[in-house]
Amino acid sequence: MKIAILGAAGRMGRKLCELASGTPLEVVAKIDVADGFDRTWPAETEGIIDFSYHTALPSAIDKAAQDGIAYVIGTTGITPEEQAHVDAAAKKIPVVQSGNYSLGVNLLLALVRQAAATLGPDYDVEITEMHHKHKKDAPSGTALMLAKSANEGRAEINAATDGFIYGRKGDTGERPAGEIAIHALRGGSVVGDHTVMFAGELERVELTHKAQDRAAFAAGALKAMAWAKGKSPGIYTMRDVLGL
Ligand SMILES: NC(=O)c1ccc[n+]([C@@H]2O[C@H](COP(=O)([O-])OP(=O)(O)OC[C@H]3O[C@@H](n4cnc5c(N)ncnc54)[C@H](O)[C@@H]3O)[C@@H](O)[C@H]2O)c1
Repeated sequence: MKIAILGAAGRMGRKLCELASGTPLEVVAKIDVADGFDRTWPAETEGIIDFSYHTALPSAIDKAAQDGIAYVIGTTGITPEEQAHVDAAAKKIPVVQSGNYSLGVNLLLALVRQAAATLGPDYDVEITEMHHKHKKDAPSGTALMLAKSANEGRAEINAATDGFIYGRKGDTGERPAGEIAIHALRGGSVVGDHTVMFAGELERVELTHKAQDRAAFAAGALKAMAWAKGKSPGIYTMRDVLGL
């Protein structure tokens, strides 16, 4: 399968190009705004893996939909307006979209859903994430997915992402029941740490994932690309790819 990498000069892009060489996927375009990289993909391209910047997404996915080729979105921090382009494209092409392509985090999402369902609303959910100092968006896409999984497990209030609390400051008052709070830490070279804490009156449960190498995300994204080939139009997640 002939693929193009969008954001090829970046941390994830470089890792994707490196790992793709050991798979049946052939990288025919390395696209980036950086000097010396391609600006678009050739006609023979059958799929795009995008780990660039959210503002690059609308025009790229519009073109992929015109070309009728599969699209894997790794980029996070996507605005509702940009997401509308994704939703429109998914009527014409298969799109895989995930805030985290690692096997471990996708297992963690399932475990968080189960823990939230078992422990119920008496256990307060607090999520922390830490990433390297170069990360441009906060909170991480993974932290948002974890918050949604906890919410699904409890199947109650704060169903919308906007209902989550992002950090605390000042006279916040007592913590309301059902609140889900997300805290973003930045520093050094941390690839990606996430902890979901369930704090009860008598005990705490903490579920943690620590990514040690970007290859964990890159391998999952390459797997998603190969999986997406020939699929019907629609938006898929790593749950579909991994059959979780
Ligand atoms: N879903 C996941 O599993 C996962 C994992 C890691 C990172 N990410 C996300 O992937 C994205 C990239 O992360 P990174 O750490 O590699 O960032 P990075 O800054 O190292 O790389 C991004 C690259 O995109 C390029 N770029 C910016 N605008 C562009 C445009 N208009 N067209 C083409 N290229 C453009 C930049 O020049 C840069 O080389 C971020 O949104 C990050 O949050 C997702």
